[in-house]
Amino acid sequence: MKFDTPATTNPIDQMKVVGKPHDRIDGPYKTTGTAPYAYERHDVVPNQAYGYILGSAIATGRIKSIDTSAAAAAPGVVKVVTWQNAGAVKKPDAVTAKLLGGPEIEHYDQAIAIVVADSFEQARAAAKLIVVDYAREKGAYDLKAAKSSAIKPQPGYAGDPDTAVGDFAGAFAKAPVTLDATYTTPDQCHSPMEPHATIAHWDDGKLTVWTSNQMIQWAKRDLAEAFGIPQESVHVMSPYIGGGFGSKLWIRSDAIMAAVASRACGRPVRVTLTRPMMYNNTTHRPATIQRIRIGADKAGHITAIGHESWSGDLPGGQPETAANQTRLLYAGKNRMTATRLAVLNLPEGNAMRAPGEAPGLMALEIAMDEMAEKLGMDPVEFRIVNDTQVDPENPDKPFSHRDLIGCLRTGAERFGWDKRHAKPGATRDGRWLVGMGMAAAFRGNITMKSGARVGIDKKGVVTVATDMTDIGTGSYTIIAQTAAEMMGVDMDKVVVLLGDSSFPVSSGSGGQWGGNSSTAGVYAACVALRDRIAQKAGFNTAEVDFADGKVTSGNRGVKLSDIAGIEGLSAEDSIEFGDLGEKYAQATFGGHFAEVGVDTATGEVRVRRMGGAFAAGRILNPKSARSQVIGAMTMGTGAALMEDAVVDQRFGYFVNHDLAEYHVPVHADIPHQDVYFMPEVDDKSSPMKAKGVGELGICGVAAAVANAVYNACGVRIRDYPLTLDKLI
Ligand code: MOS
Repeated sequence: MKFDTPATTNPIDQMKVVGKPHDRIDGPYKTTGTAPYAYERHDVVPNQAYGYILGSAIATGRIKSIDTSAAAAAPGVVKVVTWQNAGAVKKPDAVTAKLLGGPEIEHYDQAIAIVVADSFEQARAAAKLIVVDYAREKGAYDLKAAKSSAIKPQPGYAGDPDTAVGDFAGAFAKAPVTLDATYTTPDQCHSPMEPHATIAHWDDGKLTVWTSNQMIQWAKRDLAEAFGIPQESVHVMSPYIGGGFGSKLWIRSDAIMAAVASRACGRPVRVTLTRPMMYNNTTHRPATIQRIRIGADKAGHITAIGHESWSGDLPGGQPETAANQTRLLYAGKNRMTATRLAVLNLPEGNAMRAPGEAPGLMALEIAMDEMAEKLGMDPVEFRIVNDTQVDPENPDKPFSHRDLIGCLRTGAERFGWDKRHAKPGATRDGRWLVGMGMAAAFRGNITMKSGARVGIDKKGVVTVATDMTDIGTGSYTIIAQTAAEMMGVDMDKVVVLLGDSSFPVSSGSGGQWGGNSSTAGVYAACVALRDRIAQKAGFNTAEVDFADGKVTSGNRGVKLSDIAGIEGLSAEDSIEFGDLGEKYAQATFGGHFAEVGVDTATGEVRVRRMGGAFAAGRILNPKSARSQVIGAMTMGTGAALMEDAVVDQRFGYFVNHDLAEYHVPVHADIPHQDVYFMPEVDDKSSPMKAKGVGELGICGVAAAVANAVYNACGVRIRDYPLTLDKLI
């Protein structure tokens, strides 16, 4: 089905099931330990062996020699596999560095060998016996030092690296009020609860993997490419995933190394990355340096806005597109953005929850706070004055729906923003200085083609099958709600099957496109099934109603179970969005508010309250959507106050590679979070009239915390995270 915008009235609009705060249907499996995660699939294939990956001990250089004889002779060892005896394996185009390295080394902890043994412990012990002689070379590990050699990269998924409208330099020079400031964000790591893990099994030239992956079709494509086999010969299963945040968008070394090892020793091989391995072996959010210039007239209208961003990646990698939201967020006739990419020999930089906006707004929304202060304006009002209803770079292109102003006003009112003292350091509570800060939230709304198959059986049970994934976001539940609404059945009559490459190809989970796109695909398949059912019942498709397990037309109703019969009925379709993105600028919006205390003795920052209002189209499930937003606000608070993957500049690796040293917020760090969704329906986004919401909550929240810290104590920090050493 091609989506014709705007969406017309359709059965989703009944909102009998969709839009209700339904508990997650996978929740009981996850909380009772019965959801089968990849590494726990002892049941799926017999005779599984354990693989343990050895990572490179250098970041840049080559292996002069590797001696695996002692490891191969160790107890329980089946085989030791390196690039020398692995057989042919190609680097998939979509992956930057080789997932099986050697003899050239591209980054620290790049996989160079896998030991296969009868137990995990035997494999791990034997891996310590491998002797590697390295020739270390000089690498580039410091973004500040590499900045001057950064170049304009090729246009990527986010478009041209540079944009320019009007005369930025002239307007900035003439503006009566200006800001020119540079902000930095550090490398950050995803830290999902479930480490990357795969069981690989070869049978007659066909590869089956049970893995933890966000994008099933990409995994299938890349495994086929790696091993030179047709995509039909690859079966990928990933029904439960303990978090991804972008680290599992593409296959990583666990999948390639398990498959390589299994092929080499003729046994299924099970591999998990250890927690420390995830930091340097997989991907991370790259550090950025961002220069922002804003010029405004005395009334606070932005006349010039410029945002330049520098980041680094391995050769062939991608930039962090931190300047991109500045193309769309605020009005202003004269504008420029520029994205530059340096070569760094750190592990691969890649997408982490809200790539682009998350670090971009960490900078832009402090800059907006600084400008508001220079103008003597309230920061909420300054943003409202500079709202735009069209893409400021392409004024003929309207937003599909944009209620930034509503979010800011509603968020401010709910938070009690009017009680804030504009002057920093004005509020004391014992030894604490207390302050309030705010920031806008903005995240693009991407739509992706998504397919599903929906069937009904003789018991009236509706089964949905799609290769969509649930990375902890609630996909199972909103898909079940969609099918229940469309087919007129109760939630307990819907079975949802996800994460299997034998099912129709979906949008997958990434870039907050999954919720809206995958449910729209289920909607399309349900429309097709409703047509089949109506036809079989002898009804005119345009005049039927699906409710209470029956299809009704006029005064005649037939049970779905009877129509399905012994054979059952099913239909498959997908939603396609065509050139929707050309017609409308699509994005989600919000306003973040935070109150912090700064300890006058130690400089410790505690968040005391946080809240926000968010506009993201129709909210399909307020309960799971709220969970997404509070989780993202928590993650953004971590970005503000603690997350920092520290680079050892001598050896080129992240030093703090475990959760003891790489700090993320815990319950005690996070106060009550007030989340309000603007009542909104975006009929230009999909038949669901929904948009993405999984990443919106992290966008801007770190700046709201940073602005609250400034308001509390008058110290303006432009270098994240805001650790106490920077405050005293
Ligand atoms: Mo998201 S960073 O695209 O999983």
